[in-house]
Amino acid sequence: MAVKPASEHAHWSSRWAFIMAAVGSAVGLGNIWKFPYEANSGGGGAFVLIYLGFVFLIGVPLLVAELSLGRRGQLSPIRSMEKVAKEEGRRTAWSLIGWSGVIGSFIVISYYSVVGGWTLSYMIQTVLGNLQGITGEEAVAGFDALVTNPWMPLVWHGLFMGITVGIVLRGIEGGLEKAVTLLMPALFILLIGMVIYAGVTGDFAAAVSFLFQPDWSKLDADVILSALGQSFFSLSLAQGSIMVYGSYLTRQVKVGKAAVTIAAADSGVALLAGLAIFPIVFAYGLTPGKEEGLVFQTLPIAFGQMTGGVVIGTLFFGLLTVAAITSAISLLEPSVSYLAETDKFGRKKAAFIMGGAAFAFGSFSSLGYGILSDVTIFGQSIIGFKTYLTNNLMMPMAGLFTALFVGWFVSRKAMMDELAMEEPWFRVWYFLVRFICPTAIAVIFYHVVIGF
Ligand code: TRP
Repeated sequence: MAVKPASEHAHWSSRWAFIMAAVGSAVGLGNIWKFPYEANSGGGGAFVLIYLGFVFLIGVPLLVAELSLGRRGQLSPIRSMEKVAKEEGRRTAWSLIGWSGVIGSFIVISYYSVVGGWTLSYMIQTVLGNLQGITGEEAVAGFDALVTNPWMPLVWHGLFMGITVGIVLRGIEGGLEKAVTLLMPALFILLIGMVIYAGVTGDFAAAVSFLFQPDWSKLDADVILSALGQSFFSLSLAQGSIMVYGSYLTRQVKVGKAAVTIAAADSGVALLAGLAIFPIVFAYGLTPGKEEGLVFQTLPIAFGQMTGGVVIGTLFFGLLTVAAITSAISLLEPSVSYLAETDKFGRKKAAFIMGGAAFAFGSFSSLGYGILSDVTIFGQSIIGFKTYLTNNLMMPMAGLFTALFVGWFVSRKAMMDELAMEEPWFRVWYFLVRFICPTAIAVIFYHVVIGF
């Protein structure tokens, strides 16, 4: 299989398009569905503070590293890593970072699309007014009925994957860019609207103190690892998404500034999502669920009771769906780009093959709450196992090796040249990526996975 030359590799048509795509990748179910309940079980403010620390001290330097590796390679993550390693006179085994990214993003999209399917289904349910006046028990039962149904979850999963494939097969300028430049501004407007609504009608003060007042007693190694995992997941790090988006960058874009913008937008959205959700939850006297149910079981009760709940509920689930789709395309892109850059597959064929494979692989997750609920892998549910494997093992590992590679195996001069950062920022970044990122990841990883 011959590989098309890097000169044929696509590029973003503008810096704005790239920023929207990267923010679109970062902002997803992780921010709106996961962050609020992770924050809740991690002790509110304590989790949030640690999370923000990870985002800026570890996440941003790694974003910079991944974006610049992709841009330097101008190929899909696997081949970019191989190329940069060769240029630097290093072993091509470093391309394993690329492999881990491509395989990891494939695993994530296979279950991400399942949850994406649930959001689609909830959006339709709210539009139809089916959530009107539901009680707490009905909300719980409604969610259970959806996820345990023997075939419905598959339909929604397939529909969500179909939308994702439909965008990815149209390519960078024609597909990804068009989608994100339309959807991301819409998402921001919806979110701000939701926060204002929650601020006016909900218990804003309770939400603020819940999110920002640290309860340090809840803090333990597990919470710290989950804050690290959440920051990686939310920034789309160490799974190929950011590297592949970096490969579509032109030399003009300043990677450092872009990384800070992406991280700020991503954590801003996570916090705003908390400020949109918790005031409503508290105002209706509900207890925020610690698990997945927060968005799918608790919020619908509030939407079902409030005046205008059909509109607000539809907007909310619309927002969640949009966020999920712009992330899903970045999860499919790493593997699609790998196939599409060979002369054997066009982009269309590659998108169908990978999307189809991810759908099939994800169908086990899709049914994992229903007919396959007895299936466990190492004592975990199918989605639980995939999440553990990617978030707790593959992402920290790939992040660790990315930092080591860029910090110790690529020449300082090459990085300076690639980043074109002003001093002292280059030195700050270099220090973080050489010393702080690898140490912090290794320590946390050791404590949680290997034990004390
Ligand atoms: N960041 C997205 C979210 O918060 C999900 C996502 C997209 C992702 N690409 C990724 C997670 C790559 C890990 C790795 O929902």
